[in-house]
Amino acid sequence: MHLEEYTSLKHHNSFGIAAKARYFIEVTSVSELIEVLKIHGDKTLFVLGGGSNMLLTKDIDALVLHINLKGIEVVTEDEDRITLKVMAGENWHDFVMYCISHNYGGVENLSLIPGNVGTAPIQNIGAYGVELKDVFQSCTAVEVATGEIKIFDKAACAFGYRDSIFKTTLKGNYIITSVTFSLTKRDHLLHTSYGAIKEVLAENNSTDPTIADVSEAVIAIRRSKLPDPKILGNSGSFFKNPIVDSETFKKFRLAFPEAPFYEVSPTQFKIPAGWLIEKAGFKGKRYGDAGVHEHQALVLVNHGDATGHEIWELALKIQREVKQKFGIYIEPEVNVF
Ligand code: EPU
Repeated sequence: MHLEEYTSLKHHNSFGIAAKARYFIEVTSVSELIEVLKIHGDKTLFVLGGGSNMLLTKDIDALVLHINLKGIEVVTEDEDRITLKVMAGENWHDFVMYCISHNYGGVENLSLIPGNVGTAPIQNIGAYGVELKDVFQSCTAVEVATGEIKIFDKAACAFGYRDSIFKTTLKGNYIITSVTFSLTKRDHLLHTSYGAIKEVLAENNSTDPTIADVSEAVIAIRRSKLPDPKILGNSGSFFKNPIVDSETFKKFRLAFPEAPFYEVSPTQFKIPAGWLIEKAGFKGKRYGDAGVHEHQALVLVNHGDATGHEIWELALKIQREVKQKFGIYIEPEVNVF
């Protein structure tokens, strides 16, 4: 445990932004974490997991705490199910691959999502018809103010679409140290109805797919649409898909009958922000090194040396023009600092 100063965060955020941390410390155990909270309680804290869902628009004048807790442990197991406790610093996709190789079902649709296990509950990561909450049992977290350990069950997390209590009421109050998952060992419940998954499985003549087949299909789809952050800096979907009320939706549908949408409830409609951004003319556009991905307009990219500020300026321009053209406000999904 070593306190660094003026540390570059370029390799700690998937956008590859070269912002600096005033202080930086890495913790590799829960006791180290509690000790840091005690010793450095006077400093402003900035918790860093995998750095895959943040845009740094400036240097961070705080103590950046890199949560690097590792380990996977079996909590309970019978013939049908297994409960695994996974430490927060485990890479999410490595955990998914661990599950596939042991034939533990439930997370295969969430293959290749960047980031760490400990940050996955914060925004309730989701893809291809599955969300983290579907396999989540509980998480353990340390309270920043007191250093006390608390367990949150699923209800306590108040999960929503890309949302949880850790993003709202309790924002900044707790540091998640581990997540416990409930997974299947047989009779896996596959989610293959998402159009693109169906297509890939059919192409592969996979009539009775395994969880490994589903994972492979998801990986193929993601690779074809989403840029690899190691090659092209990005943070996945930059915006959330907006959910609008019936009245707004009626007007929108009249003006743009060709637009895709999903009915969330009889009075709520989700419209793909990627479609709105593409129709506003931004897909594949580049302003200096800040750009919009050529295959998925919802993803903003860093072509090399863009600053966080430049990417944020682009995001605001997109937000403004989408609002002007469609009357719909799109809200960032990534955390902007
Ligand atoms: N679309 C366009 N143009 C685009 C992008 C999308 O017209 O440039 C249209 C597509 O044709 C499709 C619709 O928008 O009709 C939805 O697109 P897609 O299936 O690619 O999914 P998405 O709504 O853009 C969401 C998640 C992704 C997740 C996929 C698959 C959000 C904010 N994003 O994207 O999550 O992988 O569904 O389930 O909910 C992430 O959160 O970082 C992320 C990548």
